[in-house]
Amino acid sequence: MPTLRLPALTDVHVHLRDLGETHKEDFASGTAAALAGGVTTVLAMPNTKPPVIDSAVFDSAAASVQRQARADVGLFVGAAAGNAQAAAALADRAVGLKIYLDATYGPLRVNDWTSLLAHFRTWPRGRVIAVHAEELSIPVAVGLAWAYGQRLHLCHVSRREELAYIQAAKAQGAPITCEVTPHHLFLDETDLPRLGARGQMRPPLATPDDRAGLWEMLDVVDCIATDHAPHTLAEKSSDAPPPGIPGLETTLPLLLTAVAEGRLTLDRLVALTHTHPRQIFRLPEQPDTYIEIDPDARWTLPDSGWHTRPGWSAFAGRPAQGRLRRVVLRGQTAFEDGVVLAAPGSGRLISPL
Ligand code: DOR
Ligand code: ZN
Ligand code: ZN
Repeated sequence: MPTLRLPALTDVHVHLRDLGETHKEDFASGTAAALAGGVTTVLAMPNTKPPVIDSAVFDSAAASVQRQARADVGLFVGAAAGNAQAAAALADRAVGLKIYLDATYGPLRVNDWTSLLAHFRTWPRGRVIAVHAEELSIPVAVGLAWAYGQRLHLCHVSRREELAYIQAAKAQGAPITCEVTPHHLFLDETDLPRLGARGQMRPPLATPDDRAGLWEMLDVVDCIATDHAPHTLAEKSSDAPPPGIPGLETTLPLLLTAVAEGRLTLDRLVALTHTHPRQIFRLPEQPDTYIEIDPDARWTLPDSGWHTRPGWSAFAGRPAQGRLRRVVLRGQTAFEDGVVLAAPGSGRLISPL
């Protein structure tokens, strides 16, 4: 098959670690990894050091994006106790409000009823609220979104029952969308003995039946998002390994391989990684932007040589079919044959339309 031209990917869930954990990643290395994965827009999560929960930190992060980004970056503002007004004041600049309802990496979490209600009451209607919600937290978030007329996006849904509930709620008209990660689609808990701490993330790898459920109900899923969560190998090998794995550079080859195997259509791949993410978050268009793929290239995903700073992959050793050759962003070649050409500062800070 000749070279295939596709819309560039938009990844609505990444952790780029700027400002304070740049030994893991920063906006320059994270957006280099994005381009090397065919991704020209990323939405960055606020569980950073310091967390993005007020306009002072938001301004610093935004300035850092403008200095360093090689692809376009949108920033979430995080929900904390007592910052509902401060968060709402950022609603035109942030791509959404992120609420952590369950424990994960970092201290950002809302687990008291009063703060949670304050955020659902105060956040401007029509702007997205994204949640890290697992199991029982999912109906809690969906119920609050419904009651307060909010648009809810459920991050990294990982279990069969969760997606079945989302399907039922959507059928009743719930104002919700959801994403799944490549790691929950392509790995499950039977991979844990082999992966060790490299297989630890939140939500954790689920059962083979949960994984099968995600594939069976893929038409309920709105987006595929990586939850790119870079941690160094030394940190992952420590006594208290942080949860999360890098994903920006492995998602496209995994999905193209699924297309080659007949598990996914190319149209659905584009809907899940480009069209729906941009619609849900009302992102501005990137004119003259696309990727070029060699759909026949067969290769093995390596364990080093990635652009993401930690430089390892939980998918190392996997055979893949389909390889990114070129990324064009606003008419400029930003990546070609393994080399990132876009300079820091060529990416833009984006906000919803
Ligand atoms: O595995 C995860 N890592 N899940 C999350 O929700 C957060 C992320 C991180 O920031 O490392
Ligand atoms: Zn999360
Ligand atoms: Zn995350």
